[in-house]
This record gives sequence, structure tokens and C-alpha cells, in this order.
Amino acid sequence: MSEYNLSTLTQGVIDRFAVTPDPRLKQLLTGLIRHLHNYITEVDLKPDEWFAALQFLTKTGQISNDKRAEFILLSDTLGVSMLVVALAQARAGATGSGATAATEATVQGPYYWEGAPELPNGADVAKDTPGEPTLYRGKVTDTAGKPIAGATLDIWSGNGEGNYDVDIPGLNEMRARGKIRTDAQGNYWFWSIRPAYYPIPTDGPVGTMLNATHRQPNRPGHIHLMVSAPGHVPVTTHLFVKGTPYLDADPVYGVRKSLIVDYQRHPAGKASDGREMNAPYWSADYDFRLASAKQ
Ligand code: BEZ
Ligand code: FE
Repeated sequence: MSEYNLSTLTQGVIDRFAVTPDPRLKQLLTGLIRHLHNYITEVDLKPDEWFAALQFLTKTGQISNDKRAEFILLSDTLGVSMLVVALAQARAGATGSGATAATEATVQGPYYWEGAPELPNGADVAKDTPGEPTLYRGKVTDTAGKPIAGATLDIWSGNGEGNYDVDIPGLNEMRARGKIRTDAQGNYWFWSIRPAYYPIPTDGPVGTMLNATHRQPNRPGHIHLMVSAPGHVPVTTHLFVKGTPYLDADPVYGVRKSLIVDYQRHPAGKASDGREMNAPYWSADYDFRLASAKQ
């Protein structure tokens, strides 16, 4: 019979995992136990506090469904998503500085929806979406500046009022989502809206946590893009609107200086892609750089 006490329990639990056949799974679980036990000891966790934590996690599961990703929200608001993203980009050798660095990655967030429609360059991905029209344009290159033809930009955002399609009651189709491919010279251009800031969902356990800790819930205005091309490291990132509120207080820690874009306002007239605009509009220029995938 084994009996464990305060000084032997942690090692006793780790020992039970000693026979785990997959070495990585063994490393992940034993590391988790070591840190979790250390944490509980360090904060001298009380039984009612642990019970409250378990209830919190239970509620996080209960509110989740295919449109509501409360665990992603929890990971994002604890900074875990950004840590994992930054480690992955560093591991892929895709970081650096200046013109030779790959575009910086940031959180995917809970609003990605697989299967956005494939659209030609120049298309309006935000048809039937309220918001100020914006022409997005630029190139996708490798980190030496060589254009990448046929790179895919998978784009999604809320509307100009800060609402995502999945959160609009009664709307069961995609809005402000589309896939665009670069042309033979690596150029892309598409229309969408100028994104507004918006609060992450606060009607669940994550909202309760933000409220209890006096943290503000608003994300600065941004559009999401997943940029990929064969032979290159894909990047999941945002473009942030320069001057949008909350750039200094993103609740999910996703802002990076290199992703802030100075949107330019234009009077009504012919846009650079030939589209006739009968009201003022914006343009946002950004070149994406992808690192080569390691062989
Ligand atoms: C978003 O960008 O939409 C988002 C990201 C993380 C958490 C919540 C929302
Ligand atoms: Fe977003």
C-alpha cells in the first residue's frame, strides 16, 4: 500500500505516468502535474476555491457549442493563445526583424469559420455587411521579397458595427468572409469594411472573470487573415486600424506594432481598382511575408 503526504504526493502522481508509451504525452502530463501542484501549494488553495474553479470550468464547457468557443476565449484572455502562437512562430524560424522577417502572427480567436467562399481579386467580401467600404491591397512575398503567386488569403471580420455574423440572431450564413488568391505578380486586392472595435462575449464565465478582475473587454478594430502558400509557413494574423480605441488594452494581447495599418480616407470617385464609389471610402495597404517551410 502506498500512502502519500504533502511532500510525496506530487512525485507519487508523476511516477504513475512513468509507463506512458508516448514520450511527448508523458512530458506534457508530468509537467502539468508538477506546475499545477506547485501552484496549488504556492497559493495555498482552499477547498472552496478549488470547487469554484471546477464550477467555472464546468460552465465554460456548458456554454460552448459549434458557434460559441468559450475555452478559446479563456485561453485568449489568459494570454495562453498568444504565448503558443509566439512560440510556434519562433520555432518555425519565422521571426526576425525588418524587411526580412515574416509577417507576425497573432491569435486566431473564436470566430474563424472554415469554408469561406473563394472570390476573385477585386471582390467585395463584405457584401450585405454594414460598414465603411475599404479597399485592401498589397502583395504576398517570401522573406527575400520575391512575390508568391497563388497564395491564399482567408479573410474574416466583424461588420462595421463590431458584430460577427455568428453572433447576429437569426443570421445563419457567412458575412464578411472570403478567400482571395494572389495573381501571377503576388498581388491581392479586395473590398471589405473598415472594422470597428467590439467587446469579446461577456455573457459567460470569461465575462464573469473579466468583470471580477476589472478588465475591459473591448478589442481594437481589426480584420483577420490566414495567409498561406505551398512551401511556406502559413501565418494567421490581423491588420489593426491605426487610431482605433483599445490598441493599448487588447484583452487577448494580440496587438503587434507591425500589424497596425494607417487606413487612408478617399472622397467619392473612381478607386484604384477601377470601382466607381459614390460615397467616401478607405484603403488599407499591407504586404504579407511568408517564411519558407523547413525541408
Ligand atoms: C476576435 O478577434 O474576434 C477575438 C479574438 C479573441 C477572443 C475573442 C474575439
Ligand atoms: Fe476579431
